[in-house]
Amino acid sequence: MTLLAIDKLSVAYGDLFAVREVSFSIDEGIVFVLLGANGAGKTSILRSISGLTPARSGSVMAEGKSIVGFSPHEVARAGISHVPEGRRIFPNLTVEDNLIVSFIPARAPMPAAQALAAVYALFPRLAERRKQAGGTLSGGEQQMLAIGRAMMNFPKLLMLDEPSLGLSPVLADLVFERLAEIKRQGTTILLVEQNATCLELATRGVILANGHVVLAGDRHALQDSDFVRRAYLGV
Ligand SMILES: Nc1ncnc2c1ncn2[C@@H]1O[C@H](COP(=O)(O)OP(=O)(O)OP(=O)(O)O)[C@@H](O)[C@H]1O
Ligand SMILES: [Mg+2]
Repeated sequence: MTLLAIDKLSVAYGDLFAVREVSFSIDEGIVFVLLGANGAGKTSILRSISGLTPARSGSVMAEGKSIVGFSPHEVARAGISHVPEGRRIFPNLTVEDNLIVSFIPARAPMPAAQALAAVYALFPRLAERRKQAGGTLSGGEQQMLAIGRAMMNFPKLLMLDEPSLGLSPVLADLVFERLAEIKRQGTTILLVEQNATCLELATRGVILANGHVVLAGDRHALQDSDFVRRAYLGV
């Protein structure tokens, strides 16, 4: 089943078109990757899906229903969670309170305590730091917390904006490995990255340049493309 379908989506800031007629669709259960360099329009696409930045034109359908014009809150209730660029967490709340404030009882198939335990099973580091203020966590731990907060919503679709940014290669691998586990547990993932190592966990995706889709295909097609070799692997 198609979970999310984007058709001819355009996003503009005044006269500047950041996203031009981008189309793709995401089947349930996969990891879909949106790869592109700085300024390609990746964040604009995620923000537009989330209702944070209005689409100039085009359609966004979640499970066959239009979500264009939905507020960010309505999009979250429709089962789409967004882990934004720069991992926004509450710095003065403890790790545990950061997680609890993200819990939406109406969406949850289990009580908050069980949902917390599931997040701690994914990220044992967060369990060790449960009483610590979010702002005192390391960059990698804050990324885990940002992902954990999104998981407290029990999303059907988890969208992440460059989760590996600023992390060491080892920590980036750990985050990607946890995303693979989240996929195994049944959550569909839309992953925005510049880091081509994320293709290891991709099912399929698109490469974006200057707001356009320049290549769409499965993981192997993306990995084998000249574009990825040149732009991302430096060969
Ligand atoms: N609020 C805004 N006002 C004006 N221009 C914007 C705004 N947000 C983004 N842009 C422009 O839109 C284009 C796409 O930006 P976007 O943030 O979507 O790219 P990106 O692919 O996420 O880049 P990065 O990898 O650097 O995060 C850029 O040229 C950017 O300068
Ligand atoms: Mg961005």
